[in-house]
Amino acid sequence: MAGLDAGYIAKQLADFKSGARKNISMEPFAQMLNDTQVKDVAAYYASLPMPERAAASGADPELLAHGERLALTGDWDRYVVSCVACHGPGSGGVGSVFPSLAGQHPEYLQTQLLAYRDGTRSNDPQDLMGAIARRMTDRDIDAVSAWLGAQPAPVRK
Ligand code: HEC
Repeated sequence: MAGLDAGYIAKQLADFKSGARKNISMEPFAQMLNDTQVKDVAAYYASLPMPERAAASGADPELLAHGERLALTGDWDRYVVSCVACHGPGSGGVGSVFPSLAGQHPEYLQTQLLAYRDGTRSNDPQDLMGAIARRMTDRDIDAVSAWLGAQPAPVRK
């Protein structure tokens, strides 16, 4: 959470509260927060620096190269849109709608992509992520998660 956009964090908390995003661990905690507390806690986490990930991922170089390609260029034959097209330069996030992917934990990214693909996470506006994740193979998801998770966290002003 540290360093993500405050509006994005607040939306996720509101989604956990309303049930639009489902997670057994998060739902009861989100329920305890009123609207002011959601804003406050989101502002607090947004003000923290993003943790730096170890740049050298243990993943196989071929897998990382595939992940880099998907993130930066996409795969137009399969309509997999590049991640940077929405998540911004360096996949560092754009405003409150498109979260930073760079610097997030690879396993978290992978879990979210699998959840979008199987429909257990469906709080993305207009099914933007679901539509992409459903076109991704397991290898695509492993590759892009490993590569993005090894990218430097975005620099915030
Ligand atoms: C058409 C726009 C678009 C493209 C292209 C796109 N995304 Fe997203 N993505 C979104 C939006 C919008 C959200 C936020 C959904 C929400 O509000 O919960 C999101 C959220 C995510 C999340 C959840 C992050 C979190 O903090 O929980 C992951 C992981 C993700 N995207 C991965 C990817 C990857 C990997 C690619 C490239 C293969 C990609 N996205 C391409 C629009 C896009």
